[in-house]
Amino acid sequence: MTDPIVIMKQQVGKAAAEYIESNSIIGLGTGSTTAYAIEHIGKRLQSGSLKNIIGITTSFQAEVLAKKYNIPLSTLDMVDHIDIAIDGADEVDPRKNLIKGGGAAHTQEKIVDSLAKKFIVVVDGNKIVDSLGSTVPVPVEVIPKALTPVMEKLKELGGNPDLRMGIRKAGPIVTDQGNLIIDTKFDYIDDPKSLETIINNIPGVLDNGLFVGVANLILIGEIVDNIPVVREF
Ligand code: 5RP
Repeated sequence: MTDPIVIMKQQVGKAAAEYIESNSIIGLGTGSTTAYAIEHIGKRLQSGSLKNIIGITTSFQAEVLAKKYNIPLSTLDMVDHIDIAIDGADEVDPRKNLIKGGGAAHTQEKIVDSLAKKFIVVVDGNKIVDSLGSTVPVPVEVIPKALTPVMEKLKELGGNPDLRMGIRKAGPIVTDQGNLIIDTKFDYIDDPKSLETIINNIPGVLDNGLFVGVANLILIGEIVDNIPVVREF
């Protein structure tokens, strides 16, 4: 039997792909849930229910998937707007604020997602929280030479910083930009907007995974009475 989490991710990814209209420029997010949206966009292009779209990717992973599903791609210097972006999240609060960066792609994701006229977030029900930071740390992308001073500053801010290590790769993970990720757990995030700004003002930090006031629509994959459903807010 397929894992229920996989079923929720598939359903919600597919639902988000249905929001895409022909003749639009779309931001393609990163992660296992968005991967199902990219796959479904590809299927819609193949079936002819969707025509003339251009994708702007947020990571190497998204680029590889878009090419696999024959989605035409462009770059931010070649387009003057993005109509809609679809991306995942690691936590979503009741105000539609997010923590992202579980896939170490939040810097490019924030650029693309915040440029989109409409940003749709795709998550399974386990990602919904009352307060940001309750289940996951805030990922902070940092240039390698600034690692030690940035870690010290994050401790001063009350965080518990931890250099993200690779899996099946010796040493730390390296982002698509060639930088490192410091996962920083906070006991309680009182004001996500001001924490986002304060962290980004530390010299050597590129961007962090707090997305405040960026998302427009949250699609949540759930299983109710053994049936997968997609709820939205
Ligand atoms: C990558 C991200 C992802 O969108 C986030 O981690 C959710 O991933 P998944 O859909 O695999 O749970 O922010 O940087």
